[in-house]
Amino acid sequence: MGFPKDFLWGGAVAANQCEGGYCEDGRGLANVDLCPSGKERHDVIRGHGKSLRMEEGYVYPSAEAIDFYHHFREDIRLFGEMGFRVFRLSIAWTRIFPKGDEQEPNEAGLAFYEEILKECRKYQIQPLVTISHFDCPVHLIEKYGGWKNRNMIDFYLKLCRVLFTRYRDYVVHWLTFNEINMILHAPFMGAGLYFSDGENEEQIKYQAAHHELVASALAVRLAHEINPSNKVGCMFAAGSVYPYSCRPEDVMEALLVEQENYFFADVQSRGYYPSYARKRLEKMGVYPRMEREDKEILRENTVDFVSFSYYNSRCASAATQDTAEGNLFRSVKNPYLQYSDWGWPIDPLGLRITLNQIYDRYQKPLFIVENGLGALDTPGSDGTIEDDYRIDYLREHIRAMKAAVEEDGVDLMGYTAWAPIDLISAGTGEMKKRYGFIYVDKQEDGSGTLGRSRKKSFYWYQRVIETNGEEL
Ligand code: BG6
Repeated sequence: MGFPKDFLWGGAVAANQCEGGYCEDGRGLANVDLCPSGKERHDVIRGHGKSLRMEEGYVYPSAEAIDFYHHFREDIRLFGEMGFRVFRLSIAWTRIFPKGDEQEPNEAGLAFYEEILKECRKYQIQPLVTISHFDCPVHLIEKYGGWKNRNMIDFYLKLCRVLFTRYRDYVVHWLTFNEINMILHAPFMGAGLYFSDGENEEQIKYQAAHHELVASALAVRLAHEINPSNKVGCMFAAGSVYPYSCRPEDVMEALLVEQENYFFADVQSRGYYPSYARKRLEKMGVYPRMEREDKEILRENTVDFVSFSYYNSRCASAATQDTAEGNLFRSVKNPYLQYSDWGWPIDPLGLRITLNQIYDRYQKPLFIVENGLGALDTPGSDGTIEDDYRIDYLREHIRAMKAAVEEDGVDLMGYTAWAPIDLISAGTGEMKKRYGFIYVDKQEDGSGTLGRSRKKSFYWYQRVIETNGEEL
């Protein structure tokens, strides 16, 4: 009983939220570099404020982030000290193809990730590589319109081919797109889309989504061709949607919200557009252009496993209610839950429910690739951080995950906490919203030594891994 012996414990980061070094060694600019801090961020990430170059007067937090670019050896050593068996990282597309449509990749970018992979190997940490964690080269946005253009499929596959070939000896677990469903909620940050007045936003978003879905399926095919041992997963932002009450109207509303969320993973895992999606698109007057071969591509190249992020459950009501924050989705406030410093609901049992629902739906191995608590950490006078609130959050979620495995029979490959080290928040661009087991001395105003130190949760998680989840 308990977690399987080979359960993959670890942590997850994204290139743009940790690396910095945004213009080093030939790296090009990407959408994720151009989401400023402050009140403009909201409009930019949703595609309502055009931001295609860095402008004076704005702060772009990903430019330096926590400078993982120069600290990765030290950071991975700390992950090794915690006993990580897996490290989820993402590739900055523009380190490999600075503009996106070049013929040849940038050797310096490839060498950088190879060094990371070697470092992981040193500590017997398996990499789990997200090919695109929201990244889209700015040149591809300016010249082609980003993912609304079908040419993006070829550019993305070129990137995949280079990665699958170059890192063949290091990586077997891949994710095609981080939180692919985020394209509907943060289309610029998620896929480099922005809108002009009067444009049909839904049409553009679903067209881009279709291209990503085809690209994802073709990446699965390519990964298997290049190395039959490769295992490729989809990744979506999950979290069960509860009806606000047992009123049938609320239950129906929850079902509809859930369908919108499952749409992407349904296509990636089952291999076809579900009938509810076809009807919904029709109703919205949205007709993504598809090529004849797309059906077959989707059908024949479904994912090997299903991964997802879980921060909270959501709640839906047919009537207007108070709303709550959460992972760029707002939803109806659930009166039975506690809320984080950033107003996100805290619902460990929701993770067990979500795991059961997803496993039931797909019957494929699952992987929780993000889960964690963004909180304010205040160092004590001796510099230590007693982050018991984070330990409590993680303990309860791991307990729920354990029950899903032990008692409900969910087939779960692993768990990567978001994030093992403090980094830039994707939603708000803040540094003070911290998730890590490792504290980074970087403050909201950009000051700090960038020094790393272990929080109380560091030792706690180390023990969790050492006992394979027995001691929580
Ligand atoms: C997920 C993203 O949406 O949630 C991460 O995949 C992100 O990139 C994480 O950082 C937590 O959200 P936030 O806004 O607190 O950084």
